[in-house]
Amino acid sequence: LYYNFILGLTFRKLVSTSCSLEFSPPRVVVRFGDSLSANCTSSSDQTEGIGWESPYGGVDLTLGVSSLLFKIDSVPEWDTGPMCYMNSCDGDQCVKVLPVTVYKMPDSVSLKNLRTVEEGQQFAIQCDIVNVAPARNLSVLWHKGKKILSSQTFDESSPSPVSKSSVLTLTAHRDDDGAEIWCEAKLNLWPQEQGPPPVRSEAFSFFVFGSKISLNCTARGNPVPSYHWQFPNFTQVWYRSHDVNLPILTPSSKFPGVYTCTASNSQGTVTKYFIITEAPRKFLAVH
Ligand SMILES: *[C@@H]1O[C@H](CO)[C@@H](O)[C@H](O)[C@H]1NC(C)=O
Ligand SMILES: *[C@@H]1O[C@H](CO)[C@@H](O)[C@H](O)[C@H]1NC(C)=O
Repeated sequence: LYYNFILGLTFRKLVSTSCSLEFSPPRVVVRFGDSLSANCTSSSDQTEGIGWESPYGGVDLTLGVSSLLFKIDSVPEWDTGPMCYMNSCDGDQCVKVLPVTVYKMPDSVSLKNLRTVEEGQQFAIQCDIVNVAPARNLSVLWHKGKKILSSQTFDESSPSPVSKSSVLTLTAHRDDDGAEIWCEAKLNLWPQEQGPPPVRSEAFSFFVFGSKISLNCTARGNPVPSYHWQFPNFTQVWYRSHDVNLPILTPSSKFPGVYTCTASNSQGTVTKYFIITEAPRKFLAVH
């Protein structure tokens, strides 16, 4: 523990049970690299002086004050808040650590690793959240249209950035036709609607065979983009002989699965995903 070196400043009796120090704000949520400031105030009439200490600098013991400000321009650590100490006239010392949560929004949130199970009626989709902190305060929400299908949290002790994945298994329903599915990563560190906005993945469009469907991947761009389609493995043989360098594809109802379209030109590439599923079979109840 880094406290050892400050307690070496003064050899005093450490009293933490009756520590009269208060912080303003009482706790801090700060983005890694942003500035941090907090006030430490002692309500004891025995206060001789107050100081701050941290592995990244402090404020010297200041005599004759009842409150002292700590300020740094850039938070350089993930796991330690600064601590405030108060020396009292009777020779005691009390210390209190400012509760600090250092966060980082993810570098990216994306969908991948689609697997088709049970003959195209069920899908497993993976959402990858890259470099987020602290992951114990992360929720991943799966959206389908206006509905939230599920949410996941993580049991993670590391305060520094980690990557996490969430897998959604989904059964297709006829009602899903045209729906979009995406995941969203959100840090639960603020009261509702405060803090940075959640980070969303791209959306998958969902189609259920019934009538004839066409997948529209048309992208605007200058120069005019070129298109490339990838099909579920078992359809590739069928399509190999077709010209599919087109923005709109009309797949055959024999081939459910995930269709991936990339539109690219010299300026970049965009990817669009389409999930095609067979309409669930209707069963007749026989008594
Ligand atoms: C710190 O607290 C003292 C005493 O309440 C107050 O006078 C001072 O303005 C505060 N400073 C900041 C930056 O909040
Ligand atoms: C972050 O998550 C932990 C563990 O779930 C929780 O105890 C803590 O209060 C959360 N932090 C904030 C600032 O809400």
